[in-house]
Amino acid sequence: MIIGHKLTKEDKEKINSFTNKYYDLYPDYLQEEIDNKVMLGFTNNNDTINQIYCYLSIDDKDINPYLAFYNYLRSNFDLSKNILEVGSGTIPILVTYLNKDNVTLMDKNLIEAFYKDYNYIKETFNVDTNIDDYDLIIGYNPCQATESIIRNAIQNNKNFSIALCGCCFLPNEYEERTSQKWHEYLYNIANELAKDNYEIKIDYFDDKLNIDYPIITGKKRW
Ligand SMILES: C[S@@+](CC[C@H](N)C(=O)[O-])C[C@H]1O[C@@H](n2cnc3c(N)ncnc32)[C@H](O)[C@@H]1O
Repeated sequence: MIIGHKLTKEDKEKINSFTNKYYDLYPDYLQEEIDNKVMLGFTNNNDTINQIYCYLSIDDKDINPYLAFYNYLRSNFDLSKNILEVGSGTIPILVTYLNKDNVTLMDKNLIEAFYKDYNYIKETFNVDTNIDDYDLIIGYNPCQATESIIRNAIQNNKNFSIALCGCCFLPNEYEERTSQKWHEYLYNIANELAKDNYEIKIDYFDDKLNIDYPIITGKKRW
């Protein structure tokens, strides 16, 4: 859903010069996304388009989900610790609000033109990824990586916080495949694995962001 302002002539010019310069760096399926949606406006559900708007500073700050997630993280954790951001996207945006020196990005889809100023690992995160160097694992809509982040973080006694997306990545044996069921499943495995060692919380973004999906956070108790 489009939730941002109507684009001005200057906004459109900025988008055109962005696409002239960077369009070819995107994989085919994301080029199609750009073709169809980049001129429609800031959305509550399209990471590729929102990344471009944030990169060009034509986003609506009061409904910017990355900024809202940063403010959430800031009120829950000490962000001067070492952070791994999983699934940072083609243009990493969340990191722009953080101190880039203590953040590492992990995503195979990072585009070089946009990640070269940051610490990055161009790999796929899984339950066995070594996270010894980090204190906090975060993800904004990291999709397939979500369950692995929860399992790996708890196994290794690390804090984590993930803004969940509207997809469903339940194991195949689950018949009712909705995002709500997937979120319940994640909350249950987090609680089972964490036992009393963590506070597992479900939080929501402010209504004005129009995001129905929760944030799942695990904070070590000691
Ligand atoms: C919906 S996009 C979100 C991107 C970004 N966080 C944003 O909101 O702008 C999901 C991202 O997660 C990445 N991803 C999916 N599975 C992953 C994994 N196992 N390890 C690392 N990144 C992963 C994808 O490549 C993609 O860039």
